[in-house]
Amino acid sequence: MKRDFLTVSDLSAYEIARLLKRAIAFKSGKYAHACPLIGKSIGLIFEKASTRTRVSFEVGIYQLGAKSIYLTPKEIQIGRGETVHDTAKVLSRYLDAIVMRTFSHDTVTAFASHASIPVINGLSDLHHPCQALGDLMTITEKKGRLNNVRLAYVGDGNNVANSLIEAASIMGIKLSLACPKGYEPHAEILDRARILSKHDIMIVRDPKEAVSGADAVYTDVWVSMGQEKELSKRKQSFRKYQLNRKLLSHAHAQAIVLHCLPAHRGEEITDEVIDGTQSVVFDQAENRLHTQKALLEFLLT
Ligand code: CP
Ligand code: NVA
Repeated sequence: MKRDFLTVSDLSAYEIARLLKRAIAFKSGKYAHACPLIGKSIGLIFEKASTRTRVSFEVGIYQLGAKSIYLTPKEIQIGRGETVHDTAKVLSRYLDAIVMRTFSHDTVTAFASHASIPVINGLSDLHHPCQALGDLMTITEKKGRLNNVRLAYVGDGNNVANSLIEAASIMGIKLSLACPKGYEPHAEILDRARILSKHDIMIVRDPKEAVSGADAVYTDVWVSMGQEKELSKRKQSFRKYQLNRKLLSHAHAQAIVLHCLPAHRGEEITDEVIDGTQSVVFDQAENRLHTQKALLEFLLT
């Protein structure tokens, strides 16, 4: 039976812990010559731009001995009206797995339900589960654990926040999110995670309240891909939610700063914070490679 990775909840706590261990081993260079996916072909269908997800998947696939094929909707018949269902069925006859980046989360779930091969969500409007795996690895590396780590998220309750909520609830992280009214995370995702989580997942308005005493502080852009028309309204709504030195001073003195990138410097985060000594954003970006290699190996072997 094939396994998909469309949301963080598609994996159990045990599977995530095993996967993180494997990712850390990949990063150590111990398995540099292991090619567990030799002879396999993996498609990447991206409806949106990407630097990290695309490149880390393509490089990871190559390092595992497989071949990647990057496809944009414009280049394949889906762009001319061939259905997602037919495309999923046809590509399942050639490929061993698919990574998809879509606007609507329904597109990736529809694709997965008609594909007979594993489908990985490389970001949709609702979830960014591959990012959350890299985030969990980074917190583990820097803090030595996940359980009871105090994580604050400041800003938009978007795809990154939704996946972080699932990851925190599964792995015992104490998560507080500070979001303006009307920009809270997805209600159903939050409710489900609250049932699972041993800690309450706090949603507060005041960024200081979320950040106070935190071991890690996370932020993401105020305007996600596809929301460009809301730019001026969003900039206005989020103006008090900038991660700057003053806000960071409320966190634990050893707190790390996370951002999934790309960052809009001077908006959700200042240069001095993202380039400061507490920032681990480039390790976090690197860890996408290692966690996705572990994920591919898990799903395909
Ligand atoms: N963090 C992330 O997914 O970056 P890209 O959009 O560059 O892939
Ligand atoms: N929330 C952002 C994340 C980019 C990696 C977006 O969806 O554009």
